[in-house]
Amino acid sequence: MSLTRNEIIEVLKSPVAYEGTSFSDADNSLFTAATATARALFNNTVYQRGVIEFSSHCRKNCHYCGLRNSNTDLLRYRLTHDEVMQAVEIAAGMGMGTIVLQAGEDEDVNPHFIYTIVRAIKEKYNLAVTLSLGDHPDDVYRLWRDSGADRYLLKIETTDTDLHSLYRPGQHLYDRLNRIESLQRLGYETGSGIIVGLPGMTEETLTDDLLLLRTMGLDMIACGPFIPHPQTPLRHAAQGTLVESLRVTALLRLLNPATNIPATSALDSLRSVRNNDGRIHALNAGANVIMPSITPDEVRSQYSIYPGKNDPALTQNSAVKLLQSKVQQAGFTLSSQAGSSMRRTFRAQPAI
Ligand code: 5AD
Ligand code: SF4
Repeated sequence: MSLTRNEIIEVLKSPVAYEGTSFSDADNSLFTAATATARALFNNTVYQRGVIEFSSHCRKNCHYCGLRNSNTDLLRYRLTHDEVMQAVEIAAGMGMGTIVLQAGEDEDVNPHFIYTIVRAIKEKYNLAVTLSLGDHPDDVYRLWRDSGADRYLLKIETTDTDLHSLYRPGQHLYDRLNRIESLQRLGYETGSGIIVGLPGMTEETLTDDLLLLRTMGLDMIACGPFIPHPQTPLRHAAQGTLVESLRVTALLRLLNPATNIPATSALDSLRSVRNNDGRIHALNAGANVIMPSITPDEVRSQYSIYPGKNDPALTQNSAVKLLQSKVQQAGFTLSSQAGSSMRRTFRAQPAI
């Protein structure tokens, strides 16, 4: 679909009529159009990526994130090779077609640790592997690609250069964009994305995010609402909203018909949303992927990027089963396929 900058801003600024589970007529039409676009390419299929959060150590200090280095109140953990492989076994048994290895930027994880795990996953299960491990030099990205990793996820968070550098101290948007290009050159299917509703973001900011993301040739694009974490500098900021996140999800689908778009877990951590309803709403607004955490019960609640992530009241097993049954009840078909990028098949994205 062709959308101008002004049309996108208008969608994002339109009045909100969300009460419980009802949206405005304009929002319902937007979500229906996005779902129809997704359905034309993916049918009702929802791809499942099992996320193993193997280390909560991080050298960075992003203002929005509970794993930031300065958060000394957090119990940190790092899984062993065997613990990661046990989680992979569970993920495979639960029908995940992709394993996502995710961690903070942990300086004590040797790149060869990742190399060995990816090789082992490929040899034993032949599942698709996505890495979500932050900023590293090109030779490390190359090593991991050589190990067989298929995809890399590196979010730009926001395209507002000032906000980007403010909330990611010492970091610049352009470095992030260059890294994404390096990953693409190395042959990774590449994903990126943004946080919706960071303090200082406007509808114009989000529109610029959407327009830039669309030009980047991405295979996956994610957006999730900002959730304030009590042990970060943004603890008193307002959370992102469900409606805005769903609008951005739907616009992403309309602007990038063949790109994989996850229903992000942060949607279920919004205080206003019960259980898995946030993610189901996103599937009904054009998303086609779920990414449940398969991190072991002993540590999963310590992967505290934002509050409510990996609910300690639920075991990993019951959390995944609950999400899977809700997705099916909502009329979607769960797939255990890798769900590789369709964008490469349908390269022509509509012109703006
Ligand atoms: N709220 C929502 N998403 C967050 N992320 C980090 N902190 C928050 C937060 N407070 C997201 C970012 C980051 C990923 C690890 O989690 O997009 O890339
Ligand atoms: Fe570290 Fe990523 Fe959190 Fe930033 S967002 S502090 S890089 S885990």
